[in-house]
Amino acid sequence: MANPDSRVTIHMAASLDGFIARKDGRVDWMETSDEFIGGESLDPGDVEAFLQTIDCYVMGSRTYETALSFEAKGLGWAYGDKPTFVLTSRNLPRTRDTVEFYSGDLSRFVNERLRPAFGSIWFVGGGTVSGECLRRGLADEIRYSILPVLIGDGIPFFEKLGRDVALHLAEIKAYNSGIVELRYDVSVVTVEE
Ligand SMILES: NC(=O)c1ccc[n+]([C@@H]2O[C@H](COP(=O)([O-])OP(=O)(O)OC[C@H]3O[C@@H](n4cnc5c(N)ncnc54)[C@H](OP(=O)(O)O)[C@@H]3O)[C@@H](O)[C@H]2O)c1
Repeated sequence: MANPDSRVTIHMAASLDGFIARKDGRVDWMETSDEFIGGESLDPGDVEAFLQTIDCYVMGSRTYETALSFEAKGLGWAYGDKPTFVLTSRNLPRTRDTVEFYSGDLSRFVNERLRPAFGSIWFVGGGTVSGECLRRGLADEIRYSILPVLIGDGIPFFEKLGRDVALHLAEIKAYNSGIVELRYDVSVVTVEE
């Protein structure tokens, strides 16, 4: 039974031309040097307080592999001590107790396992999993951070969506780093399997 108080958010950062990574998975373009005069600045304390409101993370296996490679380079683990669910049909290394693997039907997983247990559920990529989440009508909200860069080609924000998804623009923030964050509510849809 779905918890009516739970909220599924898709959050990713993308280039202005809509890519979340280069074709080979690199995200080197995310380090930008833009400065937007008059943009908001991010207070580390506020960011930390906001991250505490997230109850769990969900990601695809390729995003998990990227997170592991960042950790191996000494760049840390971005998901703190929050439960982190990795979708995979493979046997991947489990580097911490907070990581749990799942393979199977995404709708059942979200509605029967995640929604009853967690309030704020964050899907953090990649394009394959985000597309599947939206295609199945599982997301309540999209947070789209647009970086001030064009990269021409790469992995799209939403892979194989296959249909239109109506959105309601709920919030816009522009930061002094040149990043624009758009927050949309996903309109209620009937999903045909
Ligand atoms: N810009 C950003 O904010 C951002 C955010 C996240 C990721 N990224 C980048 O995006 C790239 C990865 O995105 P992606 O679209 O290629 O891959 P992805 O969505 O991270 O992972 C897709 C994989 O997850 C597994 N999977 C998905 N649904 C499943 C299910 N229901 N059951 C079992 N397994 C399932 C499958 O792999 P297997 O079963 O073969 O394991 C599938 O190929 C990386 O380069 C990453 O760095 C960028």
